[in-house]
Amino acid sequence: MKKHWLYILVLASLVGCDSKKAAHVVPEHPLDPVDFESVTDLGGSATSKNAEPTSHGFRFPAPGLTSEELELHLKGDADFEANFSDDPHRPEFGLGPVFNNTSCMACHNRDGRGSLPVGLRDDRWTRLHQNEAIFLRISIENEEILSRLPSEENKYNAPVAVPGFSTQLFHLGSYSLREDIPGVGQAEVWMKLEKSFFTYPDGSKVELIKPLFDIRNPYDQTLDPSGNWISRLWESDVRTSPRMGMPMFGLGLLEAIPEEEILKQSQIDYSKEGVSGTVNYVFDVEKYQKGLSPARSVGRFGLKANTPSVLHQSLGALNGDIGVTNTFFPDESIKDTPLYSDYQSKNPNHKAIQAEDSVAEGLVFYSKTLAVPSRRNADSPQVTRGARLFQQARCTTCHRPSFKTGPSDVKTLSHQVIFPFTDMLLHDMGEGLADGRQDFLANGRQWRTRPLWGIGLTQVVNPRAGFLHDGRARTLEEAILWHDGEGKFSRDKFANLPKKDREALLQFLKSL
Ligand code: HEC
Ligand code: HEC
Repeated sequence: MKKHWLYILVLASLVGCDSKKAAHVVPEHPLDPVDFESVTDLGGSATSKNAEPTSHGFRFPAPGLTSEELELHLKGDADFEANFSDDPHRPEFGLGPVFNNTSCMACHNRDGRGSLPVGLRDDRWTRLHQNEAIFLRISIENEEILSRLPSEENKYNAPVAVPGFSTQLFHLGSYSLREDIPGVGQAEVWMKLEKSFFTYPDGSKVELIKPLFDIRNPYDQTLDPSGNWISRLWESDVRTSPRMGMPMFGLGLLEAIPEEEILKQSQIDYSKEGVSGTVNYVFDVEKYQKGLSPARSVGRFGLKANTPSVLHQSLGALNGDIGVTNTFFPDESIKDTPLYSDYQSKNPNHKAIQAEDSVAEGLVFYSKTLAVPSRRNADSPQVTRGARLFQQARCTTCHRPSFKTGPSDVKTLSHQVIFPFTDMLLHDMGEGLADGRQDFLANGRQWRTRPLWGIGLTQVVNPRAGFLHDGRARTLEEAILWHDGEGKFSRDKFANLPKKDREALLQFLKSL
């Protein structure tokens, strides 16, 4: 693994830039870093003009789309909201036979993020049912898998499916899938909360919660000779990673950031702060279908930068999360498993590609072209002070304020100065946030820096939404307090601020 990183670094420095690692290299920044203080159009010309904070704050098409583009966006919007069905007589046929939810919108609540199930407690397990936005990615890991070098054969270190399952755990299924528990997918997922406390240097305490998971009733469970239930899912080499539905706006802009800018960012020496972001390189289905080799790109989307493009992520979700096959992902996600063979023998016609290309095209275009919300209260003195404290606490080493987009096939997204507050890189965020599961080159402690644009509207759009990869943080303050590993330096700076300065920093985040 180590060796491999070195290789990537060397390669990146050859291709990327000739920076000397020793000195503090200032990012080639279109604006001085502090200039984000007063900016309101965080998405450049693709910023929504509706500045009022409403529950529809994430739902505007990017201004500047042509009339044909707007039409495609609106078509995609309808499919994003459509409830897919496993009834072959309905137009939105294609759901299942296994899935995690029935529409894109159900996990991307009003184009924002999802939330933890209602009624989770720390003293009792609750079963994950319909319409939940969280699911588990799964895979197996052993020494051989962890030490492989990326190759075409291993899809550039793609997670390895759990035999008989896949790389995602589908807790829901079509009614006829399992005779023992109708409606359940590969297994049931149960959740509860674990509580802990963060204590500030001034002695005040904040309660933190973290969701825990338990997998029950997998379809392959059997009794072993000594009378214990066994399943491939419960073996010790299985890794799981909780993922919560993410906000949808501004994604076409992130896609248009030139690759070399992301590579350059990974070369900046932030060793003083203990920060060293790395690039994920992932399997790219578009390159693969065009026969390009290597079919691999810089990872940008997903919580571990585990997919390369809005297309790959969106159509992968259509296939996986909802179970609707499409031209880019033509195989059912549980193909080659006993669960599917059994289903197929009962439903022999369940084969064809289910989403028409026009549906896929609309979904991808929609996902690329939602406007970034406009900032609010940017000129309030408390917010301005908070912006400076954000910089002083070195939050900007990862939450890089701005990038300039390159060309995009959507004109209004091209050549824009944007303020996403992410470096698009992976960081070790410590044990408390670790999932312990590798995802391409991302290890079990790394996550991609979350963009902070629009974050102040999160709970206006979905009042129950939480922050971080599994939605555990009920407030922005909790989200900051979970930062550890490479984020510890900044987290400690934040924790050591007087309460009124912490409040100013939080007000700055709320203005985004
Ligand atoms: C069951 C819940 C669920 C459903 C249904 C779902 N998503 Fe997602 N979505 C997620 C999760 C969780 C992530 C993060 C995935 C990861 O990290 O691997 C995500 C990530 C994304 C992203 C990347 C966002 C970013 O900032 O990186 C896009 C784009 C996306 N989804 C589009 C879609 C589309 C389009 C659909 C419908 C076809 C859809 N999703 C259906 C849960 C869902
Ligand atoms: C070492 C890099 C790093 C530094 C420094 C850093 N962050 Fe983060 N931040 C991240 C990563 C990575 C995540 C996502 C973690 C996860 O999903 O579990 C994140 C998530 C967040 C979130 C939650 C975002 C969301 O959409 O759920 C907030 C808020 C946040 N950071 C604020 C801050 C603030 C404020 C500071 C400075 C005090 C800071 N961060 C410093 C890397 C960093």
